[in-house]
Amino acid sequence: MSSIEVLIPEEQIRGRIREMAEELSEKYKGQEVVLIGILNGSVFFMTALAQLMTVPIEIDFMAASSYVGTDSTGKVLITKDLARSIEGRNVLIVEDIVDTGQTLHLLKEMLEQRNPAGIEIVTLLDKPERRKVEFEADIIGFRIPDKFVVGWGMDYNQKYRELPYIGVITE
Ligand code: IMP
Ligand code: MG
Repeated sequence: MSSIEVLIPEEQIRGRIREMAEELSEKYKGQEVVLIGILNGSVFFMTALAQLMTVPIEIDFMAASSYVGTDSTGKVLITKDLARSIEGRNVLIVEDIVDTGQTLHLLKEMLEQRNPAGIEIVTLLDKPERRKVEFEADIIGFRIPDKFVVGWGMDYNQKYRELPYIGVITE
């Protein structure tokens, strides 16, 4: 059995999500926003954030995997698309962690072609040292060092997503 060391405790995460919800509610004041969660990792963060928002929201989900094509340009494969159109809507993409930046960089480009009113990106965690493409989320919960983390939706071989803190696996 591997053991898990706490990197960010639950209370600190909940406090930061509350702050982010307040900031976003202020930003979208008087408007509606569609939260788009990127499956599966964003689910825990997305529901916590959504319940603290004070503007009208809708939720939708998509699943994608990024890969590097033969011509070395990144491509994103949509394995589950949105259920509804985002044309003319304020879109807030909700992600668990930005790592190389490839997935969100490509996904944002793709969703922009659907003519939303605007797209913002919120991520619970950011690992800036790992970036391979230029990409910055609009709102970041915590910047963390280059460590593989689990909890709050993030997995190691599909396990540990349900942990209410952010942890690092130690052997
Ligand atoms: P990227 O930014 O395109 O490299 O992809 C980021 C995705 O990889 C995230 O949405 C996570 O699902 C996954 N990921 C990246 N770093 C970690 C980690 O430390 N733990 C768990 N999943 C991770
Ligand atoms: Mg993810």
